Amino acid sequence: MTDLYPAPDASPIDPAVEAALQASREARTESLLEFARIPSISALPEHAADMVTAAEWVAGRLRRVGATDVEVAPTALHPIVYGRIHEAPGAPTVLVYCHYDVQPVDPIDLWETSPFDPFVRDGRFIGRGVADDKGQLVMHLAALEALRTAGKAPAVNLTFVFEGEEEYGSDSLYAWIEDNRERLAADVAVISDTGYFEGNLPAITVALRGIMYAQIDVVLSPVDLHSGMYGGTVDNPANALARIIAALKGADGRVRIPGFYDDVVPLTDAEREAMAALPFDEEAYRAEIPVPALVGEAGWTTLERRTSRPTLDVNGMWSGFQGEGAKTIIPAHAHAKISTRLVANQDPKRIFEGLKAFVAEVSPPGVVVTTRYIHGGEPSLTPTEHPATQAAARAIEAVYGAPPVYIREGGSIPVTSAFDHTLGLPVVLLGFTQPSCNAHAPNEWLLVENFEQGTRVIVRLWDELGALERA
Ligand code: BES
Ligand code: MN
Ligand code: MN
Repeated sequence: MTDLYPAPDASPIDPAVEAALQASREARTESLLEFARIPSISALPEHAADMVTAAEWVAGRLRRVGATDVEVAPTALHPIVYGRIHEAPGAPTVLVYCHYDVQPVDPIDLWETSPFDPFVRDGRFIGRGVADDKGQLVMHLAALEALRTAGKAPAVNLTFVFEGEEEYGSDSLYAWIEDNRERLAADVAVISDTGYFEGNLPAITVALRGIMYAQIDVVLSPVDLHSGMYGGTVDNPANALARIIAALKGADGRVRIPGFYDDVVPLTDAEREAMAALPFDEEAYRAEIPVPALVGEAGWTTLERRTSRPTLDVNGMWSGFQGEGAKTIIPAHAHAKISTRLVANQDPKRIFEGLKAFVAEVSPPGVVVTTRYIHGGEPSLTPTEHPATQAAARAIEAVYGAPPVYIREGGSIPVTSAFDHTLGLPVVLLGFTQPSCNAHAPNEWLLVENFEQGTRVIVRLWDELGALERA
C-alpha cells in the first residue's frame, strides 16, 4: 500500500493539489464529522427537517467549491441537491452521484456512542453514514476543494446529483431525472456508493442486484379472538402466513414463484472463472458475521449466490402477542415484509406480479390476503472494457500501485439503471468503503486511509477522464 502522505512530487496527483490535501487534513476530517452529525434518516418521517438540513449542508459545500446552478430541489419526499462545475470546454461531462440519506440506527444500544455523534479512533471514522454514503460524498467535495486551493478546475465538466432517498427506494429521483434530462446531459456517470473487495482490495463494481420489496398482509377479523372459544373453527393468520412464506422458497434455496428465473442472464464460464479467482476466504466471511454456517441456492458458490443469483428473503414479520408470558388469542392479523434481490435482466414489476399471483394461489380461504408493492429497483451490469471504467482503473492503479479487481455486488443502487436506461449513460461504480464497514448496522465505520486514498483517486479520475476523447 502506498504511503498515505507522499512527498507532493511523489504523489499520484498534481503536487499542488496534494499539498492542499495535506494542509486541509483536519478540516476535511471535521467536514465529514459535521455532515455525519445531521441525522438524515430518509425512512423516518420525524427526520424530514434533518433531510432538508443535510441537503442544505451539501448545497453550501458545493457553492463553496464554486459550483453553479446549485439547487436544493424539492420532491414529493426528500430534496435532491443539484449543481455543476462546467469549466472544461470540449472535455467530457461526468454526472456524479452520491446519497446524503442514511439508514435508521436501531438497535441503538449496540452503538458504542450515539450514532450521530461521530468520532475518529484508531484510524477509523465511526458513526452512522460515515461509509454509506456521507464519507464518499465528502471525498468528492474534498477533491474539489483541494483543486480550488491549488487554483485549478477539474479537467472534466462535472454535474452533481446528490439524493436523499437512496435508502428508501429512490422513488422521487426517477421522476426528477425524467423531468431534468437536459440539465443531466453527460457522457458518463460516476456513482460513489460501493466499496472494495474483502481485505480492502481496491475494486470497481460492475454489477449490482436490483430489488423488489413487498408486504404481505393476512387478515382474519377486526380483533383478536379468544383461542379457546374460536381455536379449531377459524383459520389462524399467523399460521396461514407461515404456510405462505414456506411455499415461496424451497429448502434447496430455489424461489418457487413460477417464472421467477426466466429473465436471469446466466453467468458465462469466463465470468464464473474470474469470480472464482478472486481472493475470497469463505471461512473468514462466515466467521466475521458470525453465523453457524453459510447456506444458499444449490449449485452456486458463495460469491455467485451473493452477487449473481436472485434471492428472496423475509425482512420482518409480526403478528399477535409478543409480550412476556402468555396470552391465549388467535391474532386478528399477520404481516410480512418480503424482498427479492434481482439480477440482470429481471424486472421488479414483473417479479412483483409473479409474487402476488403465487401468494394468491397458495392462500387459504379462511383469511384475506393482500400483497402490495413497496419499492423496486432494477439490477445493473456494466461492461468492464468501457473507456470510462478503464480510466477509473488507471486512477486506482496510480494511487495504489496496483490495478483494481472487478467485482459484482449483492446490494442495490436503484438509480444506476435510471442513469443507464433513462439517460443512456455508461455508469462507473467507484467506491471506497470496506465490505465489513457495518453499513446499515451499529458502529458503522470508514478507514481514514480509504478516505484519504479515495479522495486522491477522485482527483486523478478527473484527469484521466479529461484526457479521453469525447464519446
Ligand atoms: N450503498 C448501498 C448499496 C451497496 C450495498 C453497494 C452493498 C455495494 C455493496 C446502498 O446505500 C444501499 O444500501 N442500497 C439499498 C437499496 C434499497 C434500500 C433500495 C440496499 O441495497 O438495500
Ligand atoms: Mn449507499
Ligand atoms: Mn445503504
